[in-house]
Amino acid sequence: MFHGADIDGARLHWRERGAGDVLLFIHGFPFHGAMWSPQLEGLPLSWRLVAPDLRGFGRSHEEGEGPLTMERHADDLARLLDALGVERAALCGLSMGGYIALAFWRRYPQRLRALILSDTRAAGDAEEAMRWRRALAGRVVEDGVAVLVEAMLPKLLRPSAPAAVRDRVRQMMEETPPLTVARALEGMAVRQDATDLLPQLDVPALVLAGAEDAIVPVAEMEQMARTLPDARFFIIDGAGHLPPLERPEAFNGRVAAFLRELSAPASSA
Ligand code: MLT
Repeated sequence: MFHGADIDGARLHWRERGAGDVLLFIHGFPFHGAMWSPQLEGLPLSWRLVAPDLRGFGRSHEEGEGPLTMERHADDLARLLDALGVERAALCGLSMGGYIALAFWRRYPQRLRALILSDTRAAGDAEEAMRWRRALAGRVVEDGVAVLVEAMLPKLLRPSAPAAVRDRVRQMMEETPPLTVARALEGMAVRQDATDLLPQLDVPALVLAGAEDAIVPVAEMEQMARTLPDARFFIIDGAGHLPPLERPEAFNGRVAAFLRELSAPASSA
């Protein structure tokens, strides 16, 4: 189930299932491709479902230096599509994965077929958020990822999230090397604001928001959906910042319906 390719100095790994048009999943921070297991197991296999570990995360270990920028990841994903022999793909990004999907669209608009955004935002970091990220990066490098787990876990899941989901999320966070955490935090701190560009993003889009997301307010996601020219917006009840893991059936149901819409022959009217 694991595949790998050498991409610009790193060995990138991905999981995939199914065959057909590609839906490329982009994980959030600080996770890896395994966060999409409920989607690879639950979505129609008439699509080729591809979930990479981004550079530095999961099995895609890298001894590199410097910020892991959204553009760096977007370039990796374009090279990954080359390796898969695919010109255009639908992208599904959660949180940091959404920032990367927007950077991908900025750099490779012709390669984006459709977009699914979950619990993410178009705005860049305000000064205070940047300062918080940089302070956190310093502490993680010094004291280890436990610092990050303590800072982020309470905000990621709704308070009543099942213990199994909480353990899984904690485990993925603990698997991320401290240097990757620091490089990714800096990459997110310097990301570009994409708000003004949203009205030009004219591919079909699906925007999903966890009803209890403590990181990205539902209203902000709804506003983003309203600004996109061709978006559908749904709230996933009983989920915080990680609906694909917290409410996989509800999340998959919305995604499957969107994929059906994309696959439907264009109306001749
Ligand atoms: C994520 O889930 O990817 C993070 O919450 C993104 C962020 O820290 O901005």
